[in-house]
Amino acid sequence: MACSISQTVLFSVLLLLSLHEACAKQTHLHFYFHEILSGSNATVMIVVNASNSDSSTYGAISVVDDMLREGQDDNSTLIGRAQGLAAVVGKEDNSILAMTNFVFTDGEYNGSSLAIYGRVVQGTTIERPVIGGTGMFRIATGYSLATPVISSDTKLVYEFNVYVWHMD
Ligand SMILES: *[C@@H]1O[C@H](CO)[C@@H](O)[C@H](O)[C@H]1NC(C)=O
Ligand SMILES: *[C@@H]1O[C@H](CO)[C@@H](O)[C@H](O)[C@H]1NC(C)=O
Ligand SMILES: *[C@@H]1O[C@H](CO)[C@@H](O)[C@H](O)[C@H]1NC(C)=O
Ligand SMILES: *[C@@H]1O[C@H](CO)[C@@H](O)[C@H](O)[C@H]1NC(C)=O
Repeated sequence: MACSISQTVLFSVLLLLSLHEACAKQTHLHFYFHEILSGSNATVMIVVNASNSDSSTYGAISVVDDMLREGQDDNSTLIGRAQGLAAVVGKEDNSILAMTNFVFTDGEYNGSSLAIYGRVVQGTTIERPVIGGTGMFRIATGYSLATPVISSDTKLVYEFNVYVWHMD
């Protein structure tokens, strides 16, 4: 009895998965993420400083309103913003938990957004899950890969490749 129930459940899950596969559209997005660390145009604001006795930043919390551009130059077309919260949650490695909405305001994705959530270790290629979306990205699922291209005291630029499966 238990066996036939689980077989029915398994069949339903497989049917849903194949329906999702058949109906979902795949999109590859490529853009550059620009974060200004200091000065009057800073796009990151520390709201809680870490109060550790050592150099660890564990416990620090920031909000960000970073720029998404077509290219890596400062004057490249602005296509959206990455707005979110970032907290240093790694006691040993200062890794960050970032919860970010990528909101598109120009180009073919204007008016749509992606919710990207996950772990950030600065200086490496960062892989994070896409956990949802709005507009043309409704019911999005997928992943994003971010690779640092500029990393200075005043700014960070990451190249983003995002692969999403979503409703048409
Ligand atoms: C801030 O941005 C404005 C507008 O883009 C620019 O004119 C100004 O020079 C920038 N300020 C700094 C400190 O970079
Ligand atoms: C965090 O520390 C920096 C550097 O000491 C300081 O400029 C800033 O005002 C502090 N921010 C908060 C929210 O405490
Ligand atoms: C954009 O900025 C780059 C350097 O960051 C410069 O080489 C290029 O000429 C600029 N383009 C325009 C159209 O201003
Ligand atoms: C993006 O969409 C908004 C809302 O529909 C519209 O007002 C705006 O003009 C669009 N921007 C571009 C650059 O197409």
